Amino acid sequence: MRERIVAGNWKMNTTPAEGAALLSGVAALKNEVRDCVTLVVAPPFTHLSQIVEAAQGTGIRVSSQNCAAEAKGAYTGEVSAQMIASLGVEFTILGHSERREYYGETSETLNKKMAQAYANGLAPIYCVGEKLDEREAGSHFDVVKAQIEEVVFNLTAEQYGKLVIAYEPVWAIGTGKTATSEEAARVCGVIRKAIREEFGLEAAEEVRIQYGGSMNPGNVKELMAQRNIDGGLIGGASLKAADFSQVVLYDN
Ligand code: 13P
Repeated sequence: MRERIVAGNWKMNTTPAEGAALLSGVAALKNEVRDCVTLVVAPPFTHLSQIVEAAQGTGIRVSSQNCAAEAKGAYTGEVSAQMIASLGVEFTILGHSERREYYGETSETLNKKMAQAYANGLAPIYCVGEKLDEREAGSHFDVVKAQIEEVVFNLTAEQYGKLVIAYEPVWAIGTGKTATSEEAARVCGVIRKAIREEFGLEAAEEVRIQYGGSMNPGNVKELMAQRNIDGGLIGGASLKAADFSQVVLYDN
């Protein structure tokens, strides 16, 4: 049985003070959920350290939203996986569509980032997903499969064990449009099948696949009812403690 994983990607939102307030709102629900869900928040770099400290004893885990592709050196503005891990951060989101689209991240960059994450003990939440034109052209399965093959297939079995995958159709992010639960589940099924073919049945049954894209208290139940969807990567609805809590507690 895969444990659910729900992560709030705060993106470029919240000051440190706002982040601290949001975290304490989320922490208020810890007792009810601690045992049945992996609960993660991904604040901006500026308050990672503060949020790690505030999350201590709450059961909430902390993720960065990115890490550098290189280990250290003359890369102005970058933040290395080692720096992030040294704060007590456990996860890093990699390959988010906003990074692919606005910062030109390719599979080549992402292979390097994955290597840095693993070398420093960060568990990647690796994002995949097709754009609207790719879905309309019917190439969404191929696009997502390629994003998996070009990066995830390069992992060792040991590395693979720590991986979380997030399927986020780009056209559903921040738009209020959600993939229907069937559409989302179909792509998550294709991802799991690709993993099975490469890493075997057990690995495929163990990997956790999140859905992301306008997930909110109103649609979470239907999405989570799908066999191949093991949680959510939440943007907008993670910025209000009440909404995020409702997403986490959808079946209570
Ligand atoms: P929204 O929930 O705002 O659509 O964002 C999803 C997302 O990109 C999470 O990483």
